This record gives sequence, structure tokens and C-alpha cells, in this order.
Amino acid sequence: MDFALNEHQEMVRDMVRSFAEEKIRPTASERDRSGKFPQDVFNEMGELGLLGMLVGAEYGGAEMDLLSYLIAVEELARVDASVAVGMTVTNSVCCWPIMQFGSREQKEEFLPKLASGKAIGGFMLTEPQAGSDAGSLRTRYRAEGDEWVLDGSKAWITNGGVGRYFVCLATRDPGLGAKGISAFILDAEQEGVQVNRPEEKMGLRSSKTCMVSLDGARVPGKHLLGAEGEGFRIALQTLDHSRLGIAAQSIGIATAALEESLRYARDRHQFGRPIMDQQAVAFRLADMDTRIEAARGLLHRAIWMAEHEMRHTRESAQAKVFASEMCNEVVSAAVQIHGGYGYSSEYTVERLYRDARVTTIYEGTSEVQRMVISRALRQRAEALG
Ligand code: CAA
Repeated sequence: MDFALNEHQEMVRDMVRSFAEEKIRPTASERDRSGKFPQDVFNEMGELGLLGMLVGAEYGGAEMDLLSYLIAVEELARVDASVAVGMTVTNSVCCWPIMQFGSREQKEEFLPKLASGKAIGGFMLTEPQAGSDAGSLRTRYRAEGDEWVLDGSKAWITNGGVGRYFVCLATRDPGLGAKGISAFILDAEQEGVQVNRPEEKMGLRSSKTCMVSLDGARVPGKHLLGAEGEGFRIALQTLDHSRLGIAAQSIGIATAALEESLRYARDRHQFGRPIMDQQAVAFRLADMDTRIEAARGLLHRAIWMAEHEMRHTRESAQAKVFASEMCNEVVSAAVQIHGGYGYSSEYTVERLYRDARVTTIYEGTSEVQRMVISRALRQRAEALG
């Protein structure tokens, strides 16, 4: 077992850290207030290869290993979680399924634009009535000539309004359940796609999240991803992969909260000494640090399994549920350490507290992760005899 990063992974971490410190941190609070999407930052991330990190070099990607990619997500989230989610959604739920399930023609058409940042990507699974129960989606598709025609509504679409290409799930007939679902690569600029006003959110305010209406949206026949009827499996395998990104994002936010707390507790004096030297605060910091490392351990185990092409549905759910819940506990502790100042938007921990909240909700709630883990346990129970 080797916990050390290799030279290349260290280089990626250092490069992303200095990019985030120089180009993202100075304006992060301002963007949190204005809610403005940082197109310039995304342009630069495209140039640096951060939007197609797992895309093969032949399609213009950086072709990195999974750990390098997730280190990059963590580093971005440590500075601005809004940027991290836009980046991870492009990489994990758009580029990745196209890389895994796409035809050569689809890869050649979409991946170079996504990897270079010329087009941002996303994923359209959730609907107003189909959240956790993703298999019950109602957006329908039908074949017409050599095209597919899509009708329905998609909800909570990250990168809505700023993204161009989306992996979109629709059903031929809701009565068919999971087997009726197919995946398409949808161009959001085409006729029949209406992106609505961004949601007003508690956190991740400069990441855009929109409802999208599909009203007779015509998708070329060749933009079906995988085979007809394979969409649900594609979506769930994509989520097995992408939940690792949310675990990394949670670890990044929690690390930022710990660092802010260390700085504050070192400099803040009460009762004649730094609060860091008072046991109540010192032990709280110790617990924050320990829980971050535990989450990282779960994440790195799931990464190792994914890299060895082992099924990691359970491990990915475990990393996601533990890291996101840890993140919420750590940011809450950070606000407590800051006392009244933690409740003020003058201090970064206030933003971290709001940004952290969604990590136990999106890409599968904590309850869905526990469903996934408990189903694996049911199989284990049967095997016990
Ligand atoms: N990989 C591949 N196939 C899988 C799978 C996996 N991880 N999990 C299940 N399947 C297969 C099953 O084997 C089954 O196939 P068969 O019928 O051939 O046996 C089929 O898929 C249906 O499986 P289930 O009966 O287990 O499906 P279900 O309807 O009970 O749902 C669920 C399972 C895990 C709850 C799933 O619906 C789920 O993950 N829900 C949460 C959805 C979610 O995470 N949404 C997030 C939206 S994306 C987002 O937030 C992105 C963003 O923009 C930030």
C-alpha cells in the first residue's frame, strides 16, 4: 500500500493550487455576492486542460489518472466550491460518459470542444417529479425519421444557461421503467430547448442551476449515447464515478474550513491566550482534521478500485455519504470556533457553511447513498448462508 502521491500527481496539485490561489480566490467572495458565472476562469481552465482531465489525448484531453483529477477537484473546492462543481460536472457527468459509452464519431465531435473549454458540459437526469427515484423520469423520446424528438422538463441542471452539451436521459415509455430509458447528447443551443432562469440558491451561488424545458427538441439519430434502452445503466455508472467528485469537493471545502479555523484560533486570544491552546477548541480542531483524513481514506480506496476496473458502487456511495456529512459537520464546527465572526459574511467560513449544504443532496442524497450501501449489504447477508 502506498499513500504517497507520485511526481505527476504532486505537479497537478501544485499547478491547480497556484491557479486557484492566483486566479480564483481574489474574486470568490465577490462572485458569491453577485452570483456571476466566472466564464473567464472556465476559459483558463480549458486552456490548462482541467475540463477534460480524463479525456484521451487523441480527443484533445489531458488523459490523466483518476487520482490526479480528484486532487484537482479538491484544490478548486478548497478555494471556490462553485467553480469546482462546474468543473466536475463537465468532467464527470458529461465527458466521462461520452468517453466510456460514446462512439468514435461522438468522441471526435464533442470531446475536443468540451476538453478545451470551448463548450461547457452537464447532465440532465433529474426532473421535477423524479429526484431520488431517477428511474421514474417522464421526459419522453420518440423516433422521427433519422432523429429523436424529446419532450419534458429537467430540473436542477448544473451549468444550465452556460453549458452547451448535456448528457440527457429520456424514456420511450414510462411504463417500461428503467429498461425504457435511453441517453442522448443534447445541444442546449438547438431549437426546442428552453433554459429557464437560474435558481436562487443558498450556496454555490456563482454556479448556475436551471430548470430546462424540452419541447420537441430534435436530436440527430447519431447522438444516441450507447444503445437504446441502456440509458439508466449509463446514468448509474456515471453516478458511481461522479460521486467521487462530490466526495473530493466535500474534502476540499472541509479543508478550507479547517485552515480558516486554524488561522483564526491561532490569532484569536481569549482568557489571556490563543483559543487554539484551550482544550475545547484544540480537541474540536483535532476531530475536524481526523474526520477529513478518514473521508480522504475512503475516497482513495474507491479511486483505487475504479482504477483497477473493479465495481465500486458501494465504495463510491460510502465515500460520498461520509465525506459530505463530514464536510457539513466540519464547516459547522468552523463557524462555532469563529464565534460571532463566523456568522458574518466578512469571514470565509460563512460562505463555506452555505456551500457545503448541498453536498449531502446532489448527485444522490445521503439517503440514496445509504440505499445503495444497504443493497450491497443485503447481497452480503444472503451470501453468509
Ligand atoms: N451501475 C450499473 N447498473 C446499475 C447500477 C449501477 N451502479 N445500479 C443499478 N443498476 C441496474 C440494476 O442492476 C438494474 O438492472 P436490471 O433491471 O437489468 O437488473 C437497473 O439498473 C435498475 O436498478 P434498481 O432497481 O436498483 O434501480 P432503482 O430504480 O431502485 O434506483 C437508485 C436505484 C440507486 C435509487 C437510483 O435511482 C439513484 O441513484 N437515484 C439517485 C439519483 C441521483 O443521484 N441523482 C443525482 C442527479 S445528477 C446531479 O445531481 C448532477 C449535478 O448536476 C450536480
